[in-house]
Amino acid sequence: MGVKILSVGAWTPSKVLTNDDLTKMVDTSDEWIRTMTGICERRIADEDTATSDIAYNAAKIALERAKINADELDMIIVATATPDYIGFPATACIVQDRIGATKAGAFDLVAGCSGLSYAIEVARGLINNGRMKNIMIIGAEKLSSIVNWNDRSTCCLFGDGAGSLILSKGSDADGDIIDSIVRADGSGECALKINAGGSRNPIKDTLPDITERTLYMDGQAVYNFAVKVNTEMVKELLERHNLTADDIAWIVPHQANYRIIKAASKRLKLDESKFYMNLKDYGNTSAASIGIALNEMHEKGLLKRGDYIITMGFGAGLTYAANLIKY
Ligand code: ACO
Repeated sequence: MGVKILSVGAWTPSKVLTNDDLTKMVDTSDEWIRTMTGICERRIADEDTATSDIAYNAAKIALERAKINADELDMIIVATATPDYIGFPATACIVQDRIGATKAGAFDLVAGCSGLSYAIEVARGLINNGRMKNIMIIGAEKLSSIVNWNDRSTCCLFGDGAGSLILSKGSDADGDIIDSIVRADGSGECALKINAGGSRNPIKDTLPDITERTLYMDGQAVYNFAVKVNTEMVKELLERHNLTADDIAWIVPHQANYRIIKAASKRLKLDESKFYMNLKDYGNTSAASIGIALNEMHEKGLLKRGDYIITMGFGAGLTYAANLIKY
């Protein structure tokens, strides 16, 4: 008995911010952003839209496609780095109420951009435990709310959106979440962080400087880490299951930077065409990116029953995670 993907969904805001738009905000160019990242545009949510709204829209699509009622969900996990509120309540609880999942538990999972891959493994464990049947996981972000729009080195990278999956107890004939790698290297805590607002550096009477309350990233450190762990994870999953690269139909990477994906494909000696990429249209949507990619693949008819797929994520923490899926 396995754990199958019952449905996928995604939602992104309609407002598009192009590289040319960014040149009017900071000292940058379309050419620099395209060459250094592969990103052409990103979606940006309205000011009054919160992460739970974005997550809710993606959740509704996955529910409709799964053809189950919300009260058949046992758990809702929202992977996010941009919750509606610092600390509590969890964004997942807001989604749980709005979709009417009256019998579900709900919690947020904080693992940066690896969040969806982490959530897949957590949900797999909960279902395999025997008590739960259907679990909704959503990677959802409003990164535009934590970006310093004066910092050209980060503001061009990120976008908003959500990807959703419903995982369910399957029969032997169904596809399966076969295995995962879920790890962290906390020695990289400083490579990606928001310095102020938490218990380490609470906001007091005066608002801290914008650089303290928005996203900070050591781009080179993250880049090197990402190339290394992405390569290692794919190799390890293939070895564990006696598979070769030829057995894999798709690798669905966290959509951070084209150059990271290209470097991983070289090291793995895997053709770039095996890596599904849509970062040119959405930028880096953190925990949402793998779900948005899976949804796009579903809508294009690229996900075929029986195909092996590997997801690979890395992000703040630093965390990294990958899932081996037989679709
Ligand atoms: N436009 C023009 N020039 C720029 C811009 C910009 N938007 N941003 C930086 N530069 C300049 C810098 O000021 C620097 O100029 P200088 O040489 O005169 O000082 C030069 O470009 C090089 O800057 P670096 O930051 O050293 O460039 P780097 O080669 O590291 O590339 C990048 C930057 C693209 C961000 C790269 O480090 C990277 O992709 N890192 C990984 C980032 C990532 O994937 N983050 C997300 C993962 S985690 C998560 O998803 C939350």
